[in-house]
Amino acid sequence: MEYFSLLGGTKIPAFGLGTYQMTKREVVKNSILTAIKLGYRHFDTAEIYGNQAFVGEALEESGVPRNELFITTKIWMNHYKDVRSALKEDLKRLRTDYVDLLLLHQPLCNYVDAFKELIKLKKEGLVKAIGVSNFENEHIHKLIEKTGVIPEVNQIEIHPFCQRKEQVDYCKRNGILIEDWYPLANAKSKLLDNEVIKEIAKKYDKTPGQIILRWHFEIGHVAFPRATSEAHLKENIEIFNFALNKEDVEKINALDTGKGYDKPVWLKKITETLKKANH
Ligand SMILES: NC(=O)c1ccc[n+]([C@@H]2O[C@H](COP(=O)([O-])OP(=O)(O)OC[C@H]3O[C@@H](n4cnc5c(N)ncnc54)[C@H](OP(=O)(O)O)[C@@H]3O)[C@@H](O)[C@H]2O)c1
Repeated sequence: MEYFSLLGGTKIPAFGLGTYQMTKREVVKNSILTAIKLGYRHFDTAEIYGNQAFVGEALEESGVPRNELFITTKIWMNHYKDVRSALKEDLKRLRTDYVDLLLLHQPLCNYVDAFKELIKLKKEGLVKAIGVSNFENEHIHKLIEKTGVIPEVNQIEIHPFCQRKEQVDYCKRNGILIEDWYPLANAKSKLLDNEVIKEIAKKYDKTPGQIILRWHFEIGHVAFPRATSEAHLKENIEIFNFALNKEDVEKINALDTGKGYDKPVWLKKITETLKKANH
């Protein structure tokens, strides 16, 4: 496994397993336990995914020492007023006494005060690193201005069709590591069937998924595709035995459409309601 370093010095595995939309106990446990056998040590969850208890159960059952695991969770905006108690509940469900990375899930409600609480929790050792998710440059700028602390991570939707260059440049300038959610564009966007990706896959004798996931690593971002099938789990982690050349990275960079994919209706509704309530 390859690692990146966060601003505060924490080492983070460059690759892991996402658990969004994995809600059934058996599915979560099977995926995590299979992933662990294949060498995964980094797991991304969130309170809103409703699976922390199953993630905790699987990680405990795996028998892997806690200090070899990297666990990320996220605080949903309804808990921005009580981040500390929300984290304590997360820890209980995850069966651990700290998380490696704690993120604010959305730039909504009073995210500045919530981030101040994250800073305290990090000082107390309940979390090793802190960051944000779905934050635009202006939100991060406000956090830095109000707290003097730079979030160590911004987790945003990034894949070859949606590359967010301005956000990436801003984060890189500030030393913020980017985590790419939806790394395979959820396998629904035709990204895996794209001719450029397929041609590169043929050249390296790899699958389209491996080419895309290697691209995330080549551009210096963390990725944690969700996978429930053993074949996908195995395929996805086998990206550290080859490298894309600069020309092929550039060919993939050229696929950017400037458009993202995931805006579930329920999230849109919550976001709009909260925006109205807060502004
Ligand atoms: N911060 C946020 O707001 C946010 C939002 C969305 C996601 N995330 C995080 O990012 C993670 C990844 O995003 P995601 O789960 O939405 O989408 P994704 O990882 O891009 O796609 C997951 C889908 O791709 C399939 N798949 C996995 N590997 C494949 C391969 N090698 N070839 C073909 N298909 C493959 C999976 O199928 P099988 O299950 O059948 O294997 C699953 O249906 C999430 O799980 C979550 O942890 C964060």
